[in-house]
Amino acid sequence: MIKKYSVGFLTTILALFVGFFSISGCSESKEAVKVAEVVEDDGADWPSFGRTYKEDHYSPLTEINDQNLDRLGLAWSFDLPVSQSGISAPLAIDGVLYFAVGHSVIHAMEATTGKLLWEYDPKVFDVAGKKMRAGWGVRGIAYSKGKIFTATLDGRLIALEAATGKLIWSAMTVDPEDGRYITGAPWIMKDKVIIGHGGADYAPIRGYVTAYDENTGEQAWRFYTVPGNPADGFENDAMEMAAKTWNGEWWKFGGGGTVWNAMTYDAEYNRIYIGTGNGAPWNQKIRSPEGGDNLFLCSVVALDADTGEYVWHYQINPGETWDFNAAMDMQLTDLTIDGQRRSVLMTAPKNGFFYVIDRKDGKLISAEKFAKANWAERIDLETGRPVENPAARYPVGTAYLMFPSAWGAHGVEPMSYNPNTGLVYLPARDLGNLYANASDLKNWDFKPDMVLNVGLGAAPKGQGQKVPPGKGWLAAWNPVEQKEVWRVDMGLKTHNGGTMTTAGNLVVQGQATGELSIYTADTGKKIWSFDAQNGIMAQPITYLADGKQYISLLVGSRASSHKGNGKPWNYYTQKRRLLTFALDAKAELPPVEEIDLPILDDAEFVVDDEKALLGVKVFHRNCFVCHGARLNSGGAAPDLIRSLIPTDIDLLVEVLNEGSQRENGMPQFEEMPMSEIEGLQHYIRKTARQRLKSKN
Ligand code: HEC
Repeated sequence: MIKKYSVGFLTTILALFVGFFSISGCSESKEAVKVAEVVEDDGADWPSFGRTYKEDHYSPLTEINDQNLDRLGLAWSFDLPVSQSGISAPLAIDGVLYFAVGHSVIHAMEATTGKLLWEYDPKVFDVAGKKMRAGWGVRGIAYSKGKIFTATLDGRLIALEAATGKLIWSAMTVDPEDGRYITGAPWIMKDKVIIGHGGADYAPIRGYVTAYDENTGEQAWRFYTVPGNPADGFENDAMEMAAKTWNGEWWKFGGGGTVWNAMTYDAEYNRIYIGTGNGAPWNQKIRSPEGGDNLFLCSVVALDADTGEYVWHYQINPGETWDFNAAMDMQLTDLTIDGQRRSVLMTAPKNGFFYVIDRKDGKLISAEKFAKANWAERIDLETGRPVENPAARYPVGTAYLMFPSAWGAHGVEPMSYNPNTGLVYLPARDLGNLYANASDLKNWDFKPDMVLNVGLGAAPKGQGQKVPPGKGWLAAWNPVEQKEVWRVDMGLKTHNGGTMTTAGNLVVQGQATGELSIYTADTGKKIWSFDAQNGIMAQPITYLADGKQYISLLVGSRASSHKGNGKPWNYYTQKRRLLTFALDAKAELPPVEEIDLPILDDAEFVVDDEKALLGVKVFHRNCFVCHGARLNSGGAAPDLIRSLIPTDIDLLVEVLNEGSQRENGMPQFEEMPMSEIEGLQHYIRKTARQRLKSKN
């Protein structure tokens, strides 16, 4: 019975892929697109991540505005394979949409019709090896002078001809044997393209950013974000200065500080600002046991765009020990503060404070809480340092229920800034988590094979606490007065999409529930909504094509846990799509086909509790990031208690040891011993039976 169901089901999935690939080889090319400089303009194009170098996700277009949304409808949609996560923003240049899905599969599409012009697949799964285990999918691409740039999970930076999708150059930016991987966007600065990487949650990584010549792919410069072993000499004065803020043998742990998400080019000062990440490991007691600021972790660092030389830094979390990285988007603008015009950088990092920094010299202007933050009372404006709550550093023998959690009060979903309202539109959340030390701090070391390695452990006996449910909202934040002006409550939905704002008095944002909404930018009144049929994480863009204004965005859930995210999306039945809207457009999405995938039980299977216990450990070491904590899938990967494959040990071995589903994003675990695979099988069967019982 079970088997029959599965064959039919797999055929459906296969058909989906075959259908897709039959159209994907399309090689029809458009006239070479003209050079579009990423500067202030009329808003016709959306040529970089945040549209302009200001990274404010703001468009001056007004054809679609708060007076005519009753005419806004779906112009067209494009279905993507379920295995390709849709979490990045497209670019729009001269009527062509460019976007990346899944593992950096790039699409070029006619913006007025959705006709596919070309597709480029860098075949990441063939080369990424164990790095596949950290995969979230790509978050953005870049454009400059007729070229599209993308980076890949395995660490390549790739330049494609925008007109044809042909490869121009490819540069390997990491060591294939290290734990560095890339999910973030490259950034353009004049004639260079710059890329960072992630990996400090998994492996002993020393973070860096590298700049390449945009025409040749030749390396121009590299800047490390944390110091290496002093015995090897320092690369520059900045590293020598930074090393004074570390102690112990930090270099053995890499140190971290990866620039895995945000950068911003400042044309006015010819600088690139990089937002650096957490320490490796998170727990400072391991990597720098006597404390210290640990520069340049969790900082905004300004570098000369031509040479990569250090200019200034502002450290957001000195001595970081929580995964509070400063890698969330940074926006540039000018604000009048106390009667003075200031050129500022604004950022709302994970730690729950909204920062306004003078970008001339990196001095803090103001910082206030935009979400619940119990790790610090305030940020001292004299010193620029947080006034911390000592308990938040979870001294040995204690546990601390911390807000925000390691997810952050603001994540990778970008905020936007509208110069007409003077407001920042920020997807915010309150989520907590319990911090406690790993059991043996002295002997702690990274475990191999790309598993999460953070240096935390279970709460000491009697100190466990229930983490309350989270909540999410869209905040309109006044950065001059540092206060919230309005908010849209999202209830338990904590992971909502990035925002875009326009001169038409609009704020556009998708939600975890699949609702795409438009609000008035000045007052936050909801004036339009659309059922996108899948969770939204990506930020929308808007542009002109043939003189008409369009709004486009990718739809596709990345959530690996459905808690607080509304209903869980089903990996196999969810629709990942590109949606495009315009005035007087009347297309419709096909109705959602509800396919009931039952929890499977194999009555003959005898659960061995000891094996199941091993399975719990293996699962939460290797699998939960994608398949959901405690087997609660949220749509990023299949729900394993409803999957046929774990019912058959041979199929499970094929998937894990042999990597039979690697091409769709399921990493290979070639080294996993049979005992662990059996453990997983027993854990999955036990959980399935428990769920069925609790339902009846
Ligand atoms: C980086 C994310 C990721 C990680 C980590 C991961 N998986 Fe997967 N897994 C996937 C995706 C995506 C698929 C679906 C592939 C497809 O569509 O064919 C999948 C599919 C599977 C399937 C097949 C399910 C089916 O019905 O087709 C099994 C079984 C599975 N994973 C088990 C595991 C186990 C066990 C672990 C940990 C040892 C693990 N996965 C770790 C992403 C992941």
